[in-house]
Amino acid sequence: MNKLLFAATCAVALAAAPALAADYEAGKKKAAEVCAACHGEDGTKPLTPETPILAGQYADYLAHSLEAYKKGARQNPLMSPMAQPLTDEEIRNLALYYSRQKALQVKY
Ligand code: HEC
Repeated sequence: MNKLLFAATCAVALAAAPALAADYEAGKKKAAEVCAACHGEDGTKPLTPETPILAGQYADYLAHSLEAYKKGARQNPLMSPMAQPLTDEEIRNLALYYSRQKALQVKY
């Protein structure tokens, strides 16, 4: 490959990387402010059997679910209004945060 083109491609890739990196602490803060009310602290103890455990779920799955609620592909009267105001960055941060929590077995 042309060396100049290769260098330019690398520069673009590096410049784009930070924009896609998720911020764990920002996700943790948002989760405590908004999501914990229903999904429980750390996403481990949801308040009702209809509310899924988020802790330990794959980040990709969480982000995909939040995008689906946001766009209306997945609809739920409780969850849809929670996802709609989230930015792409907040979705990535929240997905990272919950994916790193250890899931607990819940008994109802
Ligand atoms: C008012 C209660 C409530 C709040 C607040 C809430 N959720 Fe939910 N969430 C639910 C319910 C109920 C479901 C299950 C909906 C369904 O059956 O589709 C759900 C589903 C989800 C799912 C899908 C999980 C799966 O296994 O498919 C994700 C991801 C999620 N919530 C993330 C969040 C995040 C992130 C926040 C904070 C921004 C949040 N939720 C705030 C009630 C809530």
